[in-house]
Amino acid sequence: MSLSRRQFLTYLGVGSYAALTVTGVVGKPDFPWRKRKGPAPKFFAPIELSAKDALVLPQGIRADLLVSWGDPLGSKAPDGSAEHFGFNNDFTAYFPIDALTGGKNSAEGLLWVNHEYPNPLFVSGYSPADYRANKKKSAEQIGLERLSVGGSVLHIRREQEKWNLIQGSKFNRRLTASYPEMSLTGPASKLLPTAIGTLANCSGGRTPWFTVLSCEENYPDFNGYDPADTLCRWSDEPTLAIDESRYGWVVEVDPFNELPPRKHTALGRFKHENAAICVGPTGKLVVYMGDDEVDQHLYKFVSSQVVKSSATRAEQSKVLEDGTLYAADLAKGQWIPLDWNAATKAIVEKSSAFADAKKKDPTLRIESQADLLIHTRVVAKALGATPMDRCEDCEIHPLDRSLYVALTNNTKHGNLFGHIIRLLEDKDNSEETAFRYEVFLAGGPQSGLACPDNLAFDKNGNLWVVCDISSSKLGKGAYQPFANNGLFVVPTAGDSAGDAFQFASGPIQSELTGPWFTEDESTLFLSVQHPGEESQTAEQPTSHWPGGGKSMPKPSVVA
Ligand code: FEO
Ligand code: CA
Ligand code: CA
Ligand code: CA
Repeated sequence: MSLSRRQFLTYLGVGSYAALTVTGVVGKPDFPWRKRKGPAPKFFAPIELSAKDALVLPQGIRADLLVSWGDPLGSKAPDGSAEHFGFNNDFTAYFPIDALTGGKNSAEGLLWVNHEYPNPLFVSGYSPADYRANKKKSAEQIGLERLSVGGSVLHIRREQEKWNLIQGSKFNRRLTASYPEMSLTGPASKLLPTAIGTLANCSGGRTPWFTVLSCEENYPDFNGYDPADTLCRWSDEPTLAIDESRYGWVVEVDPFNELPPRKHTALGRFKHENAAICVGPTGKLVVYMGDDEVDQHLYKFVSSQVVKSSATRAEQSKVLEDGTLYAADLAKGQWIPLDWNAATKAIVEKSSAFADAKKKDPTLRIESQADLLIHTRVVAKALGATPMDRCEDCEIHPLDRSLYVALTNNTKHGNLFGHIIRLLEDKDNSEETAFRYEVFLAGGPQSGLACPDNLAFDKNGNLWVVCDISSSKLGKGAYQPFANNGLFVVPTAGDSAGDAFQFASGPIQSELTGPWFTEDESTLFLSVQHPGEESQTAEQPTSHWPGGGKSMPKPSVVA
């Protein structure tokens, strides 16, 4: 159905075309804008575009500022120093405080938060000008940056209708790029038994036994600088040398602190965006995972063992140590098993993927399942996995179990606005090896969103989508109509299926990330990542959120 201009404005709830413009950012759109097929969901009044330095929400929705970068947690690091909330909060996952005894407390729980990357300007005082001048970071600056990434466990409670962090709770703690040392499991652990800390933690998932899977994404080009630049500088410290192959894994962390953190190599090594988890029909654990780089792939892991809910949490967690890793071939609708055997070896060694990788690293050898997992991408490519437009989050629909995958963009191939695909496994069986797929939503002016990133479902099957137009491109060129990054609600059924309705707009140069609901869906947790990311000096930041006035911007989590 095409809409007349009047109908279109009625859907937007605005009286004039001028209301579509945001001063200084958005001109009159030349293309149909937010063309919708049906009405907005009834539970909120969609907001307009915003270019304000504010977190804008629908009328009647309140945001509690839960925690900001640098806030003390009341906990201690191994060296006895005070621990603080890290930088660039990303994925959040809520654990009811009584989850281990079957409870669903939605007013007290543990919140896991990923910290993806530092902005050196704010974290260590290393400025863009220092970088351009090729100035070396001091050991102190490197140390501060390492402590700003990883993850946080926060004990939180809702009292008198406001969410608060419980200072000094025994549960509060940090994981960083400097600690703790953790074990690796699975086939590659023979070569890589341990790693120091975790870094580049982007999105993730929650297991049925209430641990978090935290995904190491941009481990080689940490914080957007030159690939390996930060790593090289970090590795100046001989005692804590960074070996790149110990990063780029899925890390399991127990917020309740009963199980030690571990990296599960059976799930492969690449730029892990997230882990969407379900239990298949025979009881095996299935984990869907995106690799967020242009022309990389979509993966799934199917465990060898079944998840026994009667087993201890430590026993349940073992299902992540052994299983089959698959990469998606969209053209054939097949999950390709990445199993090392004679046939695989022959195909890989003859492939251009292997030859290309060998040009970059002449010492490259892939001779075992352990090697395969360390070099997952090379093998996936050699076996015919489909190059994708940057897989960000995937989520499983709570009602029909289909898989939604956000492909944020691929400017290399002219896909500037990204899209969301929907995969249907054969016989609705997540353990199957065949599937079909469709494009569910295309980014662009017509849908009113661009560059979809994190996804979450509510229990009614509405898809919540946050967008990540990169800070340097916001409001410019093809991205000019979209204003600040936002959060959108997209119904997946009914007349409005596939229509995007805006629920939130972030402050200047921020990205909203990590949407996660409490069990009763009365609260949505949301990360506000990198406000003021394009700031050149700390004295004149481009955003002052959340403090306002002349304050420095601080990545923060709101409830
Ligand atoms: Fe960290 Fe792919 O977003
Ligand atoms: Ca992301
Ligand atoms: Ca998600
Ligand atoms: Ca992102």
